[in-house]
Amino acid sequence: MSNHFYVTTPIYYVNDKPHIGHAYTTILADVLARYHRLLDVPTWFLTGTDEHGQKVQEAAVKNGMTPQEQCDTTVVRFQELWQKLEITHDDFIRTTEERHKTIVRKALQDLYDRGEIYGADYEGWYCTPCERFFMEKDLAEGGVCPDCKRAVNKLVEKNYFFRMGKYQQWLVEHIESHPEFIQPAHRRQETLGFLRQPLNDLCISRPKSRLSWGIELPFDANYVTYVWFDALMNYVTAVGYGADNGTFAKWWPASYHLIGKDILTTHTVYWPTMLKALGVELPRSIFAHGWWLVGRDKMSKTAGNAVNPMQMCEQYGVDAFRYFLLAEMSLGNDASFTEEAFTNRYNSDLANDLGNLGKRVISMVHRFLGGKFSAVVKPGPEEAELEKMTTIAVDSMKKHLASMQLERGIADALAAVREGNRYFDKMAPWALAKQGKTEELQRVLYSSAECLRIVSGLLYPVMPGKMAELRRALGLEGAEVEPHLETLGAWGGLPVGRALTDVPPLFPRIEKPEESPEAKKAAAEAAKAAKSAKKAEQTKASAPAIVELIEITDFTKVSLKTAKILAAEPVPDADKLLKLQIEIGAEKRQIVSGIAKFYTPEQLVGRTVVVVANLKPVVLRGVESQGMLLAAKAGKELRLVTLDGDLPSGAGVG
Ligand code: MSP
Repeated sequence: MSNHFYVTTPIYYVNDKPHIGHAYTTILADVLARYHRLLDVPTWFLTGTDEHGQKVQEAAVKNGMTPQEQCDTTVVRFQELWQKLEITHDDFIRTTEERHKTIVRKALQDLYDRGEIYGADYEGWYCTPCERFFMEKDLAEGGVCPDCKRAVNKLVEKNYFFRMGKYQQWLVEHIESHPEFIQPAHRRQETLGFLRQPLNDLCISRPKSRLSWGIELPFDANYVTYVWFDALMNYVTAVGYGADNGTFAKWWPASYHLIGKDILTTHTVYWPTMLKALGVELPRSIFAHGWWLVGRDKMSKTAGNAVNPMQMCEQYGVDAFRYFLLAEMSLGNDASFTEEAFTNRYNSDLANDLGNLGKRVISMVHRFLGGKFSAVVKPGPEEAELEKMTTIAVDSMKKHLASMQLERGIADALAAVREGNRYFDKMAPWALAKQGKTEELQRVLYSSAECLRIVSGLLYPVMPGKMAELRRALGLEGAEVEPHLETLGAWGGLPVGRALTDVPPLFPRIEKPEESPEAKKAAAEAAKAAKSAKKAEQTKASAPAIVELIEITDFTKVSLKTAKILAAEPVPDADKLLKLQIEIGAEKRQIVSGIAKFYTPEQLVGRTVVVVANLKPVVLRGVESQGMLLAAKAGKELRLVTLDGDLPSGAGVG
């Protein structure tokens, strides 16, 4: 662990109210900051708002306000949401603050004086919504904006440029020699791909005649600076760059800039080159997460499908909302938000698993042990599995925190809870009470409570409110309520002789309204689509550089189905091939597969596998094959893709 942890979110535009995309990045940063604080790592967490530029100016006009009024009104919505979501940022920077503007001007002047910024006539195409100029060659097919695909306008004007192009080779080398600099790996490839084209200088000015809402260039009062030059600087101006060297040295370089995948180029190309020109060290890592989709659709104001985080918190509670966002999104990939997915995860993980264990343990301690434990109990052979699972959970959380795979750490914490429930059922403390086996009863309840203490500690940064409640209910007091991650896993941490409090259910089940068949069908389709989207993203995630990335539409062309193997036999004169008779739902088919060296016919019959169901038939060694079996291969090993539970044949896979 490094000696400091400085994490940032993007600063949000104040042209509109926040949605779950904004909430997600901020919660993620909050959870990372909280974990690091619990590891005693000096931590600084910065968020804020991006208040200049076209978008904000336009919103102000639309709302009949001055731009500053637009900022002052909208910033409150972000600040209130962060309060509601229990975000523990150390600083909130607004780019209209003097502390920021002064330093941006200073940096601009410095770059201008050193010839890093120069004036020139510029002819190009301008995309108003993206606020970006493009050269003719950069436009997408049909002469539209390569980013948003909307129409662009031709412009010739004097502007100021930052000599970004000259840093191209240096940047490529930096990215290649610092694998952690851009994460996850497929985003690094994306930036390197972008850098295979010649890198132009960056236009960093906007004539005031077109856009007046910005920081004035210190060397030409007819211009304001480009909003991205202004915005990116927040990461350093907020921690004392150019103003307070001690503070700056304490926090810079940032450990993580968390961003959404749509602002990758600005962060991984513009920002590092700006820093290089300023002579400032680069951040350690830029982590781009995926998008929250609604079902399979992009969230947007026009579609009217944006999820309102405030409303979700009011309906289901802050902690459950935080938990869902972090547990559901595999960091780096897209994820799908539906109320259905939310309810399912809430009911299974929080109500049935965690809440249920909490309720059962605490109520039985009241019923059978007079509301307190009388001695610390050492785990015996019966507790070996439970202890193992909690140890795995602690190690996993630490490991996945470092590798930015929080969802995996969370999944292992939940696996420990499920083991807790299994242990509890197996040991049946109610029966031990009936039989008067007091010592065993103490052991079972104490051990189950230990599992809860450890898991509640692991999930504390994710659900600070509910986990504090649970920990207090278990008898932890004062400073003990906050877990210490280094010592959390040591068995026996629960103090004895403290009264456990009976708490109302932590996560009451969400009862789903009866659904119409149409609604059910639509939900199933949405879930299927989301699953395929996730899978396609995951495929992308593990794709090495040379593999071309595909669109989801490419992936959905492939029909994957579960199939049951009814019979298998060798193909004569072909020692690698087996002829399989399979069943895909009601349909019977024959497949020839090159797996004879890895499976005998006997091993295959009766198994449910996954097949590509829409391949054109081919004839192999004189035998027709009507599909393909999926298998994974590593070196000399081959394993069939099978299901981890029972499903009938003919089920869609995606
Ligand atoms: N102001 C710039 C960032 C400047 S940082 C120096 C900006 N602001 S934004 O408000 O439009 O977006 C902020 C972040 O929200 C971006 O990282 C963007 O990717 C993220 N999201 C917006 N919609 C999103 C989803 N639907 N899902 C996840 N995050 C998304 O860009």
